[in-house]
Amino acid sequence: MPTPELTEPVTFNPLADGFVEWPYHQYARLRAEDPVHRSELLHGWCVTRHADVNAILRDPTVSSEIDNAEPTPLTIDEIARRDQLSQGGRTVVLLDDPDHAQLRRLISKPFRPREVDGLQALVEDRVRTKVDQLVSDKGTGPVELDLIADFAYPLPVEIFCEMLGIPEEDHPGFRFWVNCIARSLDPVIDPVERQELVDHIADMQAFLEELIAEKRSRDDDDILSGLIHAEEDGERLTPEDLLAQIVTLYVAGHEPTAGLVGNGMLALLRQPDQWALLQSDRSLLRNAVSELLRYDGPNQFVRRVAMRDMDFDTPAGRVTIPARSVVYASPGSANRDEARWGATVDQVDITREDAGQHLQFGAGIHACLGSHLARLQAETMFTALLDRFDGIELAGDPTWSTRMVIRGLNQLPVRATLR
Ligand code: HEM
Repeated sequence: MPTPELTEPVTFNPLADGFVEWPYHQYARLRAEDPVHRSELLHGWCVTRHADVNAILRDPTVSSEIDNAEPTPLTIDEIARRDQLSQGGRTVVLLDDPDHAQLRRLISKPFRPREVDGLQALVEDRVRTKVDQLVSDKGTGPVELDLIADFAYPLPVEIFCEMLGIPEEDHPGFRFWVNCIARSLDPVIDPVERQELVDHIADMQAFLEELIAEKRSRDDDDILSGLIHAEEDGERLTPEDLLAQIVTLYVAGHEPTAGLVGNGMLALLRQPDQWALLQSDRSLLRNAVSELLRYDGPNQFVRRVAMRDMDFDTPAGRVTIPARSVVYASPGSANRDEARWGATVDQVDITREDAGQHLQFGAGIHACLGSHLARLQAETMFTALLDRFDGIELAGDPTWSTRMVIRGLNQLPVRATLR
């Protein structure tokens, strides 16, 4: 006899028991029963099949601008927070073309493959220094450590601070601020926490404004100075847009990169045959990173607004998302859709031929600007784990953050002998 829960209609519920540990069971049910799902909690739609998510991301008639949405308690709240914090600055990720294209042109230069390749020595140096520091703090061991706090979490923010030219002593404060912004992306948050987040983000902005003012008068050779002076076709970033872009780059760059390394390493520790295969054939590293992004990447949802009625054929019949609805399209779910990836979808296979076609970096005009940088960092960090963490194994239960949009671990206890 079916259990009572299984006869109830499926609902998207990121607050349900077990969701933060493993959202993929809920996504699988949604894809099978209600892949274009009306969510009362989100006051919008939750889209989970690969074909639909892919189409929405590439659809030029779908908007990223929240002002195009019908008013709901969540959109009203989001617009109010944006207006309170942005001081008129616009961020590339929340704009449609042509404004989006104009801003993207102005900030994209440092993130092109050639420029990012030039950062390899810096990234390698930072990663090496971090492991050297672990060896000097803890000895070679075997030692127990938290791979998130001791390794995957601090590194992306340190690397990005260095790229931007932000003084070393400010890094700890930054980590906290960046975390606050990542958390603030979640649509459903208790109002008291929401206000605390807004206050912390305002502190970060005040710090950045001072730094920008200082740098304006100098001619440093770092990315922040490059962005201050960036000019394309006679256009420049306004001070407000510049601030909004820096904040976006921090959020976009930090948590997801840490998430890729943390989630990815956990997946490999749970499938040790794949870790052993990677140890024996390092040429698989690039594909392995793609496969880890596909299997359990950080980016679970991308928010959009439908600009026309959109029809979908689903097992529940024809479903129409009405114009001006908010849509949460899930790359996390799309990357685990059996209809796209076949019967081995729920296994890590670092030799998977089409792993690179995952949707973790989005698609269409907003496709991730930092994907080369994220890859460089992740490949360098996995190389250090392969080279310098002998016999690495889980040393306790991992704990997950409660974030719905950017999935990542709070703690990943491991044991290893350091080299
Ligand atoms: C594993 C790491 C990363 C993942 C999974 C990721 C994922 C994504 C996704 C899904 C989008 C599309 C958002 C949308 O369509 O609304 C995006 C956009 C973006 N990402 Fe990343 N990202 C990562 C790392 C980075 C890094 C390191 C940076 C730069 C420092 C970065 C900068 C950006 C920017 C600026 C955008 C907005 C592009 C636009 O709107 O045109 N990302 N990213």
